[in-house]
Amino acid sequence: ASYDTAGHAHFLIKEISEQPAAVERTLSGRVDERFATAHLGGLNLDAREARAFRRVKILGCGSAYYSGELGAQLIEELARIPAHAEPASEFRYRNPVIEADTLYIAVSQSGETYDTLAAVQEIKRKGGRVLGVVNTVGSAIARECDGGVYLHAGPEISVASTKAFTSTAVAFALIALHFGRVHDLSPADGRRICAGLKALPGQIREILAQEGSIAKLAAEYAQNAGMMFVGRVRGWPVAREGAQKLKEVSYVHAEAYPASELKHGPLALIGPELPTVAVVPDDELVEKNLTTLGEIRARHGRVLMVGHTAPDPKYAEDCILVPKNEPELDPILLGIPLQLLAYHAAVALERDVDKPRNLAKSVTVE
Ligand code: G6P
Repeated sequence: ASYDTAGHAHFLIKEISEQPAAVERTLSGRVDERFATAHLGGLNLDAREARAFRRVKILGCGSAYYSGELGAQLIEELARIPAHAEPASEFRYRNPVIEADTLYIAVSQSGETYDTLAAVQEIKRKGGRVLGVVNTVGSAIARECDGGVYLHAGPEISVASTKAFTSTAVAFALIALHFGRVHDLSPADGRRICAGLKALPGQIREILAQEGSIAKLAAEYAQNAGMMFVGRVRGWPVAREGAQKLKEVSYVHAEAYPASELKHGPLALIGPELPTVAVVPDDELVEKNLTTLGEIRARHGRVLMVGHTAPDPKYAEDCILVPKNEPELDPILLGIPLQLLAYHAAVALERDVDKPRNLAKSVTVE
């Protein structure tokens, strides 16, 4: 098949704009509001098997790894199973211990990333059970796994991943809901998550409608040599992916730190020349996050807050507001403005948006 940008300036913005439809396809036929759970036939696990796992280990590279971090949080929150994400590349080089009561999940948009495939093969060689969260049907990783969830996000052409990242996070929300409901997640909480999932496409549309104002902020922030991205817990994987996106497409240096770690080192970098993007969900950590922003402002660092409620200007000079969903699902929405920020920074700096220097869409060699 051949694809074109369908009137968009680049594939990247086309794919960012396609996210409401991509998420609808990821959800399609999988949300069961009556029984407050998710149907994922491809997992090939019955309820007893799904209950038996004591741990979940998620593997992927690049944006797939960061979406796996969101997935690990969702699984811990909704199913209360300890879950952790690790770069597939690191995992496979350290002679990993494969445990019978751990469920392994490999994440890949292309399904062809060599490091991720090698990790899957090593787990299988040692008798472990691996599921895939993969976009490309019939790809090498999908074929190698024991089951999994296809994203159905549609083809992703631009090197930097956007809609596959978001659809992966949504797929993990479905997996977490499913595992939650075979563990201790109540029907009421299950229904709350079902309703939240169904609200996502419309809310993503509301965020995309702010593209004009985000583009203006991006053109200003792109003039800096670097940027700091911070977030706590639910905001932290979002901050990591936001920094990655900015680096990839605009070549502006970006560091991501947990907001709580700033004072243990990187606060030394903060000053007028290094602005911060802060991901601040409206959850039980919002006050702690605002205190951190106050510390940055006290050192004359400019702050752009991405959150749900406009902050007092003493905490942030600029803000991008996203609609509120359920606390567990809010990170999915908070990531969208950061994609637009990276895209418009790259446009302002006249970068090769869809094919950044030195990068490939999928790395199929070691
Ligand atoms: C490459 C791309 C990244 C991508 C990563 C994993 O490095 O440049 O954008 O996140 O591979 O790709 P995958 O297809 O496995 O998700």
